[in-house]
Amino acid sequence: MAASLTLDELAGFLAHQRAVRTFTREPVDDAVVEQILAAATRAPSARNLQPWRFIVIRERGTKEALGAIFDDLGRRLYGAAAPDRTPWAEVPVLVAVCSEYVFGTSASGMAALGASIYPAVQNLLLAVQAAGLGGVLTTRWKEREADVHPILGLPGEVAVHAIIPIGHPATPAGRNRRTPAAEVTFRERFGAPWASSS
Ligand SMILES: Cc1cc2nc3c(=O)[nH]c(=O)nc-3n(C[C@H](O)[C@H](O)[C@H](O)COP(=O)(O)O)c2cc1C
Repeated sequence: MAASLTLDELAGFLAHQRAVRTFTREPVDDAVVEQILAAATRAPSARNLQPWRFIVIRERGTKEALGAIFDDLGRRLYGAAAPDRTPWAEVPVLVAVCSEYVFGTSASGMAALGASIYPAVQNLLLAVQAAGLGGVLTTRWKEREADVHPILGLPGEVAVHAIIPIGHPATPAGRNRRTPAAEVTFRERFGAPWASSS
């Protein structure tokens, strides 16, 4: 099946793409996870190297260990009143997106790596939404990536880029709030107003 989405339909879908952090206990089957990951792997990447590797996490002990890191950092950031705290141990499934340093570790290599991973993460988040589920891209634990490595059994040459809790949203998410594109778009030169011609 070819592209069958209108631009208006896509815009409406994207307007409802939200960070969902709390979930019901309803499970998420492997079959759905496989479809979501298949969508993720449709992303572009530099030289089409497709560096993404996914770890699907369901074991409670692993979720608890990751959650402890996340909560500790959250407490330091927000104090006791962390907003929308995700109870990680209860999340039906977590997906960790990893890769080797396939473009080297120079600044440009790291830029190419991130730019080759996050389109797949966004595809994943959109597929989560299309499946009627919710999820959130998290990177807060990056500060303690060294602690995440043994929990996920990662060799030293593998980086973790995102950990995404996925489940059925506990509450409807609604539309997201974003600055209108016209306010963040310039014409020809940085700072020159867009002032739409239509
Ligand atoms: C690079 C990146 C890192 C993020 N890290 C976290 C995170 O560690 N924890 C979290 O709860 N949300 C995280 N988010 C989600 C953002 O907070 C969220 O996308 C943003 O606030 C917009 O929320 P909305 O989609 O509900 O409008 C991250 C998003 C991005 C793009």
